[in-house]
Amino acid sequence: MEANNSLFPKSICLYLSLISAVIGSTQPQPQPQPWPLQFHSILVMNSSKGLLQIDDLWYDFPNGRNFNIIQNQLGRKLYSLEWNNGTSYYYTLDSDKVCSSKHDPVGILRPNWLDGANYLGQKNKDGFLCNVWEKADIVWYYEDVITKRPVYWSFNTGTIAHFMTFEVGRVLEDPNWQAPVYCFEEANQQKKPALELPATLNMMRQVQSIPIPTVL
Ligand SMILES: *[C@@H]1O[C@H](CO)[C@@H](O)[C@H](O)[C@H]1NC(C)=O
Ligand SMILES: *[C@@H]1O[C@H](CO)[C@@H](O)[C@H](O)[C@H]1NC(C)=O
Repeated sequence: MEANNSLFPKSICLYLSLISAVIGSTQPQPQPQPWPLQFHSILVMNSSKGLLQIDDLWYDFPNGRNFNIIQNQLGRKLYSLEWNNGTSYYYTLDSDKVCSSKHDPVGILRPNWLDGANYLGQKNKDGFLCNVWEKADIVWYYEDVITKRPVYWSFNTGTIAHFMTFEVGRVLEDPNWQAPVYCFEEANQQKKPALELPATLNMMRQVQSIPIPTVL
């Protein structure tokens, strides 16, 4: 701005820049959209070792349950079913009839599990302009700036996941949430090698157990 510009005397310029500085410093950072109470997503995942998986994610908070149905490329299909009472079942539905269950008091992710995440600015990902947050050095979360839908997340295990669908309100019918009978036969379980939970699901348990700040 030129000093001798009569339309914008110096004092007004100073005033305007002060106002914009104040507005700029108080502008709230974007907040991640809370998860819808119920949704279905198909995710394409790639582990750090290059293992490709498709994850059918059924998030159902009102019913206190969360399902990851994971198809390994040309391999096993694994069912990871978590209940909010802390019980989780991890099984196959093939002839191997393997199941492991465990109790973990943290329960399933809350819709506001991203509260308190660190905002890292905007980045382009998979062709979408995204706001990016990081939580607890465990998960990096990319959300479409305009639609607020999740686009991509990555984990410190090296696993990355692309959200291919995001169907808000879609619920998996009840019978599909029934763990198979061999999950409840203890003698049967002891004879079989326990299934290894994918590292990423263990990471999400850690995210779940982080206390969320109640008031900011
Ligand atoms: C999966 O990840 C590995 C390791 O980062 C990479 O080499 C490979 O190209 C990825 N595969 C796909 C299909 O993106
Ligand atoms: C939690 O709920 C599931 C599903 O209703 C049930 O199978 C499981 O036994 C429950 N676990 C506990 C510890 O109550």
